[in-house]
Amino acid sequence: MSSALEIKVSRVASLVGDLRSASNKSITHRALILAAMARPGSKSVVRNPLRADDTHATAKILEQLGAIVEMEPDRILITAPPGLKNPEQNLDCENSGTTMRLLAGVLASTPGLEATLVGDESLSKRPMKRIVEPLRLMGAQIEGDTAPLRISGQKLRAIDYESPVASAQVKTCLLLAGANATGTTRLTEPHLSRDHTERMMTSLGVQMKCKDATVVMAGGQSWGGFEINVPVDISSAAFFLCAAAMVSGARVTLRDVGVNPTRSGVLDALTAAGATVREIARRNEGGEPVADLLIEGGNPLRAFDVSGALVPRLIDEIPVLAVLATQCDGVTTFRDASELRVKESDRIATVAAGLRDMGAQFETFDDGLAVHGPVQLRGARIDAKNDHRIAMAFAVAGLVADSPTTITNAESVRSSYPDFESDLMSIAVY
Ligand code: S3P
Repeated sequence: MSSALEIKVSRVASLVGDLRSASNKSITHRALILAAMARPGSKSVVRNPLRADDTHATAKILEQLGAIVEMEPDRILITAPPGLKNPEQNLDCENSGTTMRLLAGVLASTPGLEATLVGDESLSKRPMKRIVEPLRLMGAQIEGDTAPLRISGQKLRAIDYESPVASAQVKTCLLLAGANATGTTRLTEPHLSRDHTERMMTSLGVQMKCKDATVVMAGGQSWGGFEINVPVDISSAAFFLCAAAMVSGARVTLRDVGVNPTRSGVLDALTAAGATVREIARRNEGGEPVADLLIEGGNPLRAFDVSGALVPRLIDEIPVLAVLATQCDGVTTFRDASELRVKESDRIATVAAGLRDMGAQFETFDDGLAVHGPVQLRGARIDAKNDHRIAMAFAVAGLVADSPTTITNAESVRSSYPDFESDLMSIAVY
């Protein structure tokens, strides 16, 4: 086992167990923010929130802005402030792009608010123009195209916007700003990105029309306090799904997984690869489909292709799918995925570096990669470059490597899945 900075993994004989992996990060961020934006004094309860560095960064910032945030072991209680107040210090989004992009929309559209959003070294390099430009078209006053973003809140005017990227962070930023703006916001994306915001706002009584990749919403709508139960994040469950698919004799049940179709591309990819994933007990919670998933390993795996509209449905799962591809027969391709270059790390480069160190065969493109399989991976020391999904993807690779693997610079798993290593060890059979 390992220190906080390193994860050590050896080849497993099998993977067997029943697990509730980490809660949904996107839904937790949105629930916290929408609770703080609710009518003054409204109380909300977020049950089973993701307790991790990214969502804690959002919660801390909301407190600085005047919300009352009470952290309990399995829930967070939030009381909306009378109006957002000017923070005394900079608002630190740490490593969380979602925190920065969503809150920029809220702050920019709150008249009189003066605040600066800052982030860590990785977040400070990530593109913010994608939100700053449309917000400026709405009349926002923002200095900076990357963090720090200095924001002077204004009454904004809604816009009709064609987003060049399929990004739920951009979409949500503009919907949150649009909720405070005058006029009707209309936004179209090249492909539909995750629609948690639309589902959650609709369940709060906000009127909006969603069709294909377009959302239309009138400004000036308000909502009260609410209760929400956050399901498991399919992006976290994906590590165990892909791991189990690669290990013969594996049998793993993942409980309470959010299977929203805008997020479930990893299930399509696993099916295309020949893996068997069964959905048990599908239900609806707070407007989101949820199911238990049973996966059994040992099927022969074949290459699969990821491109176009599938990409936003599994964007965060590409690192672990690239690991899965090393065990598939044929050439698996990932294209139209240049967004990977601007995630917590340049994920095409960090995946390539890890695959190379473990002896995989692959080539990279500007917008993706092609992985040739199957190959016997070799154990290695992998630098996760402080990117949580790279750390967890290569821990999964270590389960099928011929000798032990150490993931260094892995402390970032705390940003989305602090219990990753212990959950993995709970199903590992040696
Ligand atoms: C997120 C959207 C995605 C995803 C990120 C979380 C969200 O980013 O990669 O982990 O909560 O809206 P983009 O919207 O930039 O694609």
